[in-house]
Amino acid sequence: PTKLIMDTDPGIDDAAAITIALNHPDFDLQLITTVAGNVTVDKTTLNALKLTRFFNRNVPVAGGAAQPLIKPFEDAARIHGESGMPGYDFPTDLADPLPITAVEALRDQIMAADQPITLVPTGAYTNIALLFKTYPEVLPHIKEIVAMGGALGKGNMTSAAEFNVFTDPHAAAIMYAAGIPITMVGLDVTMKALLTPATMQTLPTLGRAGEMLHALFTHYGDGDKTGIPMHDVNTLFYLLHPEAFTTQAMWIDVQTDGPAIGETVGDIRGAYHNGQTNANVCVDIDARAFNDWFLAAVKAIG
Ligand code: BDR
Ligand code: CA
Repeated sequence: PTKLIMDTDPGIDDAAAITIALNHPDFDLQLITTVAGNVTVDKTTLNALKLTRFFNRNVPVAGGAAQPLIKPFEDAARIHGESGMPGYDFPTDLADPLPITAVEALRDQIMAADQPITLVPTGAYTNIALLFKTYPEVLPHIKEIVAMGGALGKGNMTSAAEFNVFTDPHAAAIMYAAGIPITMVGLDVTMKALLTPATMQTLPTLGRAGEMLHALFTHYGDGDKTGIPMHDVNTLFYLLHPEAFTTQAMWIDVQTDGPAIGETVGDIRGAYHNGQTNANVCVDIDARAFNDWFLAAVKAIG
């Protein structure tokens, strides 16, 4: 199984990703760190703990940054509800988060691992940027980053910017400049791999995990009648099924001010960076294969 760490802001689609990362036999989830994004970090931490409790898994959870590095914090409660995970009554006897911050927990976990580890950020990249600036010794111990965020095409926050990168563009610029292999799983694929109405109908028949996710998805403000995007879950699908994606290597720059703040600018023709690349960008996905894989993964949890 792939050893991984999720840095996340649950968040309804994050909750779906955590559900799979906690339970799929091909993943060995070592740590969950949380960040302010869809809702405040107090809530994203609580939500991560609700999920580890729901599945009775003792994967440690560490709370991280409460604010982006520079930009004022704006949540997405209009999409994910005030709690970030509305519509389901989770157990209330939750474990405590680790007594250290996300940055410390990330450092400890990455340095203690016996092999380079995969980082999966599905919120703003604030913790990741703080980690790289505070403890650069972790860099050679990271195998790769597979991050949800960004877009070569239009944004979902502004016309230029996707939410995770828009939330903390300065952190995103630091992450993309770190020199680690990064796969960008952005809106170009996640807005294509919508969970169809048929998949939604099947979910609650698949057992406890499917019922819980269906309840959350019913309260999700993203998507329309053609389907709902599972943004963050696409990172995990990529890790297990890269063959379902088309990718293109290019240089990604992140805009940190002006009207395009938060835009991920892909040097598609290699003209600006003389053919150098810093990212592997997902540009197409087999949406049908994603739906089938998602249903099978949830069903297997029971
Ligand atoms: C991203 O923004 C968040 O609201 C979602 O959880 C996802 O990580 C999509 O733009
Ligand atoms: Ca997210």
